Amino acid sequence: MKILLVGSGGREHALAWKIKQSPKVDQLFIAPGNAGTAETGTNLNIGVSNFNGLRDAVTEHNIDMVVVGPEVPLVEGIVDFFAADEQVKNIPVIGPDKEGARLEGSKDFAKDFMVRHGIPTAKYLSVTTENLEEGIGFLKTMKAPFVLKADGLAAGKGVLIIDSLEEAEASLREMLGGKFGEASARVVIEEFLKGVECSVFVLTDGKGYKILPEAKDYKRIGEGDTGLNTGGMGAISPVPFADESFMKKVEDRVIRPTVEGLQKDNINYRGFIFLGLMNVDGEPFVIEYNVRMGDPETEAVMLRVKSDFVDLLEGMAEGNLAEKNLEIDERAAVTVMLVSGGYPEAYEKGKVISKLEKVHDSIVFHAGTKFDGDQVVTSGGRVISVSSYGKDRHEALEQSYKNAGIIDFEKKYYRHDLGFDL
Ligand code: AMP
Ligand code: GLY
Repeated sequence: MKILLVGSGGREHALAWKIKQSPKVDQLFIAPGNAGTAETGTNLNIGVSNFNGLRDAVTEHNIDMVVVGPEVPLVEGIVDFFAADEQVKNIPVIGPDKEGARLEGSKDFAKDFMVRHGIPTAKYLSVTTENLEEGIGFLKTMKAPFVLKADGLAAGKGVLIIDSLEEAEASLREMLGGKFGEASARVVIEEFLKGVECSVFVLTDGKGYKILPEAKDYKRIGEGDTGLNTGGMGAISPVPFADESFMKKVEDRVIRPTVEGLQKDNINYRGFIFLGLMNVDGEPFVIEYNVRMGDPETEAVMLRVKSDFVDLLEGMAEGNLAEKNLEIDERAAVTVMLVSGGYPEAYEKGKVISKLEKVHDSIVFHAGTKFDGDQVVTSGGRVISVSSYGKDRHEALEQSYKNAGIIDFEKKYYRHDLGFDL
């Protein structure tokens, strides 16, 4: 079969790497892809929100299935667009429709969904300029720190955690006044949950589900989890505290009620569900839903999927996921992200990346790279992710760090302390 994968980051390179291993796949296209995916399949120069362009590519190349990597096209309704188009309405698109994508696209929708279906999450109040006074009253009933979340997509920057009540009140007003544009016209005020986070990934066809290996990602730029938030500086799987008893709670209290809730609400969902969880004294709480895989978690999690991933994707498309086999590699897998110096603030692009051919016993996933003639150069903040297996995370990290040290580009930076907190 022929598959079109939509996206251009490290997540998509890892998905491409795994998809390409399937004997079912004859050809893999990636739109728009990066310098790494160009080696795994054929890049098509079409943006992720260019639905007409993607539809035309599906027709031209006789694509049998579309897999969507990032959230933006899902929130914009790529699934609905394909379903309504005469030419491509029978081509399955892996991802939720626009309504389902609101689980990520609207924090208010997600909170309401969780409360309606009895899924454990932090107490909250949804605020607009209409009920600002009620919002301030709610803040006064809470203890510091205060959590304010822009309702809509804000490129990962829409969550503020604030120490003082005065500052929280001021920020609430600023957000409602347009700090994050339309995304913060509504703000969710949330109770602060104290614990350790982990990410759990679920595949669903809307009825059945499969649980992929969990992972922990490292969001802060600095060692010891300090400094600004980034898209993610690395990931580790498995997560020691996500043992059998914790994961049973996650399945019983979160995963099953989520899939059943989607059904009860008549939401058409065949795709990935990413649960951002907080482990509060052994009890799982949902911090957020995402409607896609995590990045960089995918660059670790895909290594641990032993089964044919395309067989699972077909199960999602055809509605027989429950009958499919998901086998997990017992080894640990990690990924270390190499970023451009200065990221997540201003950084330079176009730096030549060298010594990639000297990497041994790790898998290199490109994130922000492109070709400049026949040279691979940096084209983003997160540049390349170095993934490795090991008998445990220590061994896997040692291997990734060895290769992270070898790959070279000007102002390369990475964290050396992943897993320090586990
Ligand atoms: P989100 O964009 O919802 O993932 O939030 C970004 C980050 O803020 C999360 O990964 C958490 O580290 C933190 N966070 C969000 N909500 C809460 C909460 N209710 N309690 C504590 N930390 C939170
Ligand atoms: N690694 C977190 C995310 O993909 O949102």
